[in-house]
Amino acid sequence: MRDEQDDEWPEGIPHRLYGRRRGKKLRPRQERLLSEALPRLRFTDLAFALGADALWFEVGFGGGEHTLAQMTANPGTAIIASEVYEHGLCSLLTEIIPDGGEATAPIPPRLRLWPADARELLLALPEASLDRLFLMFPDPWPKTRHAKRRFVHPEMIPILARVLKPGAQWRVASDDPTYQAWVTEVFAGQDAFVGGAPATIRPESWPGTRYEAKAFAAGRKPLYWSFRRL
Ligand SMILES: C[S@@+](CC[C@H](N)C(=O)[O-])C[C@H]1O[C@@H](n2cnc3c(N)ncnc32)[C@H](O)[C@@H]1O
Repeated sequence: MRDEQDDEWPEGIPHRLYGRRRGKKLRPRQERLLSEALPRLRFTDLAFALGADALWFEVGFGGGEHTLAQMTANPGTAIIASEVYEHGLCSLLTEIIPDGGEATAPIPPRLRLWPADARELLLALPEASLDRLFLMFPDPWPKTRHAKRRFVHPEMIPILARVLKPGAQWRVASDDPTYQAWVTEVFAGQDAFVGGAPATIRPESWPGTRYEAKAFAAGRKPLYWSFRRL
């Protein structure tokens, strides 16, 4: 596991993860989900993806609505879903593990969770191993001095280009005007991915998320990009 002192991070990528891991005190069921169910679902290697139609990766799944919808709609696809926020992990685990079955209930065979910085695993996965990446409503870090904390970043492009297969899709959604302009700028300055203008209406097969619902409720207008790895 990397830490703040680890100097192996690519230059430009902050060594520490920004954002919350813990929120308010966990209830006993949530404690059990994290201590008993999560270790069984935690990603360790790619064996769970053997024979799958494809391998997808979701960065920062929040409450997990998008992950669950994709898993249900695409049972033959293997999905690695990452989230650092404990309450987010519990939200998803609550949906797939019955109360009392934390240590014993069968786990979805094609789903694995990465309860740590997604960048860490993206750096470690084999080259050209992913067919799709989802980045739904990433933390916007709108202040210029925090730009390095944004997941979409010039320093991240080679990392994603390495791990995505040629032809793989990278979906990005954002409702934040600063981040929207930033995505346009960052992708204009690279040549590993192509993508046209973003959609203003969520494309079919893109399940909604909690943050998208919040954006609509606040009157913000999300944009949806589909980039393709060349
Ligand atoms: C604004 S929320 C969006 C959540 C969800 N995708 C949605 O649309 O509702 C961003 C999430 O990304 C998570 N996150 C931020 N940086 C991350 C990282 N490096 N690895 C994994 N998760 C991360 C945060 O904990 C947070 O839950």
